Amino acid sequence: MSAQATWEAPIARLTYVVFGISYNKNWSSYSEMKTAHAMDLLEPHSDEIQRPENDGLQGVRTKALQLLSKYSGYGIGAADLVQFMHNVATVTCPLGPKLLTLIGRHDRDEANLPGLIPSNNASDPAFLIELFQNKTITPQGLAALLGAHTVAQQFYIDPSRAGQPLDSTPGVWDTNFYREMALTDPPRGVFRLQSDAAISQANGISSRFQAFTDETFGQTVWNAQYSAAYVRLSLLGVNNINQLTDCTKVLPDAITSFSA
Ligand code: HEM
Repeated sequence: MSAQATWEAPIARLTYVVFGISYNKNWSSYSEMKTAHAMDLLEPHSDEIQRPENDGLQGVRTKALQLLSKYSGYGIGAADLVQFMHNVATVTCPLGPKLLTLIGRHDRDEANLPGLIPSNNASDPAFLIELFQNKTITPQGLAALLGAHTVAQQFYIDPSRAGQPLDSTPGVWDTNFYREMALTDPPRGVFRLQSDAAISQANGISSRFQAFTDETFGQTVWNAQYSAAYVRLSLLGVNNINQLTDCTKVLPDAITSFSA
């Protein structure tokens, strides 16, 4: 895997974690939506980074803090930075989509209550689906978002297998994650999360997992659905959507082909 790819995956996970916990303090109440709380996760003295569900994000957080301290004088905020990092990481992965990149979120510095994103070993599909549904992410959206595990590795679930990828091509934004989830056992050297296995079988999700394996259309359909679900995720808790600026044009071009 390239040095670049080793940063992309933690960045992609950081953004999901930031917005997973940024949303509100009560799963089912949309009225309590908070603005993006990336500031707190990035806050040097914050305890949020110590939480077990954030294991593995310490390195990329340090990088983000360095960037923030360099550019905050130019009006760059933490929530925007984290989203921008995600969108650059995604588009610089071979086959990764170029996502709508909206900038101008207001940071907040309140910590969230613990326990608002799935613990690393959560595996009850109904619970996990509800968790996302309460944030307006449908099962179909969750099916698409989980495809980010195509660039993922695990370090903490089974430390004796630290570094194992969640699909056989971890530097590439391809649909092998979905193809390999359809096998009875993962390929040798590939780690299968219990949560992925459980969710992939769930109603409303299994058909999406299957659709994304289609040889002809799977990649295009998945990229489109990931993009839609991700833009939604990236705007959770943002209460000034109409004032955001579309900065998509500053992203590099997508790498639309890849051969091993
Ligand atoms: C049901 C929801 C989810 C669960 C339970 C889950 C769980 C996990 C776990 C256990 C790991 C491995 C952590 C480690 O041991 O180092 C991981 C890695 C990762 N996850 Fe998820 N995840 C979920 C959803 C998502 C979503 C929605 C995204 C992005 C949109 C995402 C992106 C990633 C990435 C990029 C990594 C790799 C990080 C690295 O390689 O360092 N995950 N996830």
